[in-house]
Amino acid sequence: MKLPKKKIVSFQQKVFTWWSTHKRDLPWRRTRDPYRIMVSEVMLQQTQVLRVVAKYREFIERYPRVSNLAHATPAEVLRIWKGLGYNRRALYLHRAAKTIAEAYHGKFPINERELIKLPGLGTYTARAILVFAYKQEVPLVDTNIRQIITHFFFADQPQKASVIEDVARKLLPKGKSWQWHQALMDYGALELRNIQINKYTNKQMEKIPFRESNRFYRGRIIDRLREGEISEKKFLNELGKTYTKPVAFLHSIIASLVKDGLIERTSRGVLRLPV
Ligand code: ADE
Repeated sequence: MKLPKKKIVSFQQKVFTWWSTHKRDLPWRRTRDPYRIMVSEVMLQQTQVLRVVAKYREFIERYPRVSNLAHATPAEVLRIWKGLGYNRRALYLHRAAKTIAEAYHGKFPINERELIKLPGLGTYTARAILVFAYKQEVPLVDTNIRQIITHFFFADQPQKASVIEDVARKLLPKGKSWQWHQALMDYGALELRNIQINKYTNKQMEKIPFRESNRFYRGRIIDRLREGEISEKKFLNELGKTYTKPVAFLHSIIASLVKDGLIERTSRGVLRLPV
């Protein structure tokens, strides 16, 4: 898309002016350590900033360096992850830390091609590390930034990812990649939210109530195993009573957790977090 220079500059000014009085002081903005930025970005996937702040602090206190996380067990990492949900992220983060510690001798690669090979890192997260740790000038497009661009440049008409990325690249002010992206994150979360997010997400999908979703049951099962191991038979019995769900359904949820490596089934039919 052709974007006149004037339009670009006026949009940059609008965002930076707004940001000068609304910027948030978030703990991962006080570091340039790629490991800490990776931790925050993985936590921020699908989880609100407010919930992430306390957990990020706790996590970094327990695992201040990538080597500390690499030496933890998956069970430990899943325990500290409690409350964040989407538990698979915890396992990916742990595996990513092990890869950095072992294959890269503790040093993060500084390019997108290598970073996206790490477990759980997609294009967005890889680039977020490049921008927030190394101030690289690559455009970031997450849900919020996509919504900002769609709103201001395409009158809320959804566009292909490549079109959005092209605009994101053109909007990026030279030498200010770090501030620009942090500003857009705040603008999307605080300013555009009320106008836009509801309009898109609520209307488009008929949502299943959370309590009826597989993710709800996956979370409850892992919560119970955080307390310690239990025989599968006894556990199915307990779950069936608590949630009045058919055993076959609960069994299928357990099987999916085993398949994803989030829990283990021992030869004695006991379930536990992976050790
Ligand atoms: N979401 C993803 N990255 C973020 C950041 N650096 N600040 C606020 N929200 C974010």
